[in-house]
Amino acid sequence: MPVLVTGATGTVGRRVVRRLLDEGRSVRALTRNPEAARLPAGVEVVAGDFTDLSSLDAAVRGVERVHLVSMEGDGPAIVDVLVRAGVRRLTHLGHHDPSRPDDDPLESWHRAFHRAIELSGMEWTHLFPGEFMANTREWASSIRAESVVRAPFGDWNSTMVHEDDIAAIVVEALLRDGHAGRTYRPTGPAPVRRRDAVRMIGEAIGRDVGFVELTPDQARDLWRDTYPPEVIDWFLEMGRYPDGNTWVSPDVEQALGRPGLTFDRWARDHAADFR
Ligand SMILES: NC(=O)c1ccc[n+]([C@@H]2O[C@H](COP(=O)([O-])OP(=O)(O)OC[C@H]3O[C@@H](n4cnc5c(N)ncnc54)[C@H](OP(=O)(O)O)[C@@H]3O)[C@@H](O)[C@H]2O)c1
Repeated sequence: MPVLVTGATGTVGRRVVRRLLDEGRSVRALTRNPEAARLPAGVEVVAGDFTDLSSLDAAVRGVERVHLVSMEGDGPAIVDVLVRAGVRRLTHLGHHDPSRPDDDPLESWHRAFHRAIELSGMEWTHLFPGEFMANTREWASSIRAESVVRAPFGDWNSTMVHEDDIAAIVVEALLRDGHAGRTYRPTGPAPVRRRDAVRMIGEAIGRDVGFVELTPDQARDLWRDTYPPEVIDWFLEMGRYPDGNTWVSPDVEQALGRPGLTFDRWARDHAADFR
């Protein structure tokens, strides 16, 4: 019986697919665009979209274990499709910010999704990670072209997490017992300041990479053509928390029995993206 991986072309999903294959499992991967998916040989690639529930019906047929990523669509209705298809075990990669009020529109969308999962009767495991180390790939083009990063908040500190740690917990929870009803909040093993992350990427590629700190207004101008305004506002909210997110979660170590992977390891793993 295959394991269904949604978000299979994403940062975490690709690692989940790889790890399941390495464990000898057959994998069905959901994507909106199978032609562009570039998934490994042997993966059964199926077309599906969270905003079209009928496409999920077909994808989930004959599957008992699912990795679900929250992206868009009607969360409770998506959960209902899985339950009706007979899914028994679910890992769920999503987002939860306890500091935001319940009536925040994005938060309330997520919370309705979470509640539906928790009441579904499936063996569920939530993963609500900290910031992904992989978000720093947005610096790749300016590092490749000019060996420089232009960004706000150079001293912002964040316990960013390696996507492979998230994927390893997902696969652990999908394949082995003891994770049902648990919520993991994986972070990295230590906070890393933005300007130090830039330095570590430079070390990984063997070049000095400069950091030019932008004011929030300059960052807004830089990002204007890349992100919608509400996403830019959300990024710039960081400035409200001068010390950043420095909480180190015990969850990677608890779930995997080893410490989380460090940012300098991540930079070495992804050096080719920045050269
Ligand atoms: N990035 C972070 O720092 C961070 C931190 C905490 C939590 N998270 C959470 O982690 C999850 C992944 O986030 P990400 O931004 O890193 O994702 P990502 O790597 O960009 O991957 C998104 C995946 O979702 C799939 N997808 C998007 N819309 C879809 C739709 N309508 N129907 C079916 N599949 C769809 C895409 O597949 P196709 O394009 O192939 O269809 C892609 O594989 C999200 O739930 C996010 O809230 C992210």
